[in-house]
Amino acid sequence: MGLGLEGYVLKYHLRGEQNADHMLLHRVAFITGAAGALGRAVALQFARDGVKYIAGLDVSQSGLSETARLLRAEAPDVEFLPVTADMSDEEQIQGAFKQVVDKFGRIDYAVNNAAIASPFVTTGDADTADFDRVQRINLKGTWFCEREELRQMMKQKPLVVKRGPPSVFYSLSD
Ligand SMILES: NC(=O)c1ccc[n+]([C@@H]2O[C@H](COP(=O)([O-])OP(=O)(O)OC[C@H]3O[C@@H](n4cnc5c(N)ncnc54)[C@H](O)[C@@H]3O)[C@@H](O)[C@H]2O)c1
Repeated sequence: MGLGLEGYVLKYHLRGEQNADHMLLHRVAFITGAAGALGRAVALQFARDGVKYIAGLDVSQSGLSETARLLRAEAPDVEFLPVTADMSDEEQIQGAFKQVVDKFGRIDYAVNNAAIASPFVTTGDADTADFDRVQRINLKGTWFCEREELRQMMKQKPLVVKRGPPSVFYSLSD
């Protein structure tokens, strides 16, 4: 499948480091919504671009298993850490990031991709509970993840690269 605009932006960042490909091997990518269509495509693209360590977070354990299967088939050298957690739960997210850092030691690329869609109704017909759910996951949940990513990126030693940024932080939003 195509990666869409977001994927191309991400690819642009990765291509910016093509003279330092060997550094990618030691880099860690973290993706939310890694069981979904775009998150899975981003994980596979990271693997194609030579990133060796990939952590994928999602509420869907079975979806993460499928992402792991596809990665194993296409890039058997990649280490994939599936993390089942609900983004809207602060404690689960803190635990999830601890798992990632305990396993891989750092986070270099963060792609905050997971989100849910609100029901397709006009605002006049919209329900407050649906509005709250979307805000809790898409806004607050994304922020919980961003905050942990930035905390980790700010405290880790940057990798030396010839070109391009030492870390990439990227959030999707509708
Ligand atoms: N696919 C498109 O054409 C398109 C276009 C524009 C924007 N987007 C946006 O891109 C993002 C991903 O799109 P997609 O098509 O891959 O969607 P998707 O529904 O296939 O994937 C979203 C993933 O997020 C996960 N998720 C939902 N709630 C969660 C929670 N509370 N905690 C953790 N994970 C949770 C789901 O389990 C799912 O695997 C979304 O933000 C979407 O709105 C997609």
